[in-house]
Amino acid sequence: MPAVPASEVYTDSFAADPYPTFARLRENSPVCPVASPRFDSYLITRFDDAKAALTDPRLSKDLYGPGQHYLRIFGPNSEALNRNMLNSDPPEHSRLRRMISQAFAPRRIEALRPRVAQIVGELLDRIVPQGRAELMEDFAIPLPMRVICDLLGVPGEDQKRVLDWTQVIRTSGSGRKPEQDRAAVQEVQLRLHHYLAGLVKAKRAHPADDMISALIEACDHEGKLSERELVSTTFLLLFAGHQTTADFLGNATVALLTHPEQLALLRAEPDMLPAAIEELLRFDGPLPVASPRIATEDVEYGGVRIPAGSIVGVVINAANHDPEHFGEPDELDVCRERVGHIGFGHGVHYCLGVSLARMEARIGIGALLRRLPGLRLGVPVEELRRLPAASPFRGLLELPVRF
Ligand code: HEM
Repeated sequence: MPAVPASEVYTDSFAADPYPTFARLRENSPVCPVASPRFDSYLITRFDDAKAALTDPRLSKDLYGPGQHYLRIFGPNSEALNRNMLNSDPPEHSRLRRMISQAFAPRRIEALRPRVAQIVGELLDRIVPQGRAELMEDFAIPLPMRVICDLLGVPGEDQKRVLDWTQVIRTSGSGRKPEQDRAAVQEVQLRLHHYLAGLVKAKRAHPADDMISALIEACDHEGKLSERELVSTTFLLLFAGHQTTADFLGNATVALLTHPEQLALLRAEPDMLPAAIEELLRFDGPLPVASPRIATEDVEYGGVRIPAGSIVGVVINAANHDPEHFGEPDELDVCRERVGHIGFGHGVHYCLGVSLARMEARIGIGALLRRLPGLRLGVPVEELRRLPAASPFRGLLELPVRF
């Protein structure tokens, strides 16, 4: 099957609204080879196929194994940061994940509630008197960034530059020429690696009550994580821990502000918030495509043969709008019962930070609705500046609001 050119999928209107394209793919070509600007891959768009693919052991995440598949996906010199649990298969994956899963157990995360509420309060105290805000920069990005930095033990004075570096990765493809973009990403990856390796060294000399120190102790005393694994795990937690949540907070706010009747329902019944968060994640999640998998042998999905060695992208946001699985999938319905989305993934790579993400979203969105009763978009929705169409993330560059 010839690959569909990227221009037919990542159309001009795709960044603003990818859901008509996802519907077309799901309907006409549910397993579709696409020549993407980043790398060619087979996109899987139906819910049942997506769920099956996310647990299919023939679709490997071992990017740094013998096939060296990372070269096509991240390029050279990516190992120091990206060879982590997300890019590995069991038993390697299980070993890496086990080391930190305790720290993300719901009970441990619950203990962070007062600190998350405090950060939300501080950010909103600054915004409220102004009557307007750029909600990405002023709220959606700093909230999860401060939480994950606190958890890991990244000192407050370093957080601004760490954030600036991670934003270069998040916004890659927006504005710069492709070769400048690749160079910029490579450069910040080097800086991040240098910084995180230094931080690990400093924590080893002066342990504190934080996750990096705990990982070092486990590593030194039980020999369970190598130095490289310590740094790449820290990078994964830092990046996964703020970027998706930030984009989700932005997407969820836009979804509510453009569906005033749903917003009114939620304001009237704040107890509905946890269920509404799940619906908002289904409706417009921040990770449209799960991280890449590699077919280790020829596999067949939806009657299409995917040859061994192909990169497979499970399109979470297409699957979460599959009418075979969700009634009126393109409607936002905060009262939807048992949403059952795959916005946090499925299978062994299911989001490790799910309890933290849910807590931040509930506290953050709950406080936005309570403290900014007149919240509205500061520009027409079609003028919002978004991450580029082919970005691996779905989110906003800016979210101007008034209240
Ligand atoms: C994995 C979504 C927040 C840490 C994943 C995956 C998804 C996801 C879909 C699976 C990727 C795949 O199978 O390719 C989200 C969303 C979030 C969120 C939508 C926010 C709304 C967080 C937070 C953390 C986190 C706050 C905290 C550190 C991770 C980690 C993995 C992961 C470490 C890799 C797990 C593994 O490979 O076993 N996330 N995530 N995520 N997430 Fe999240």
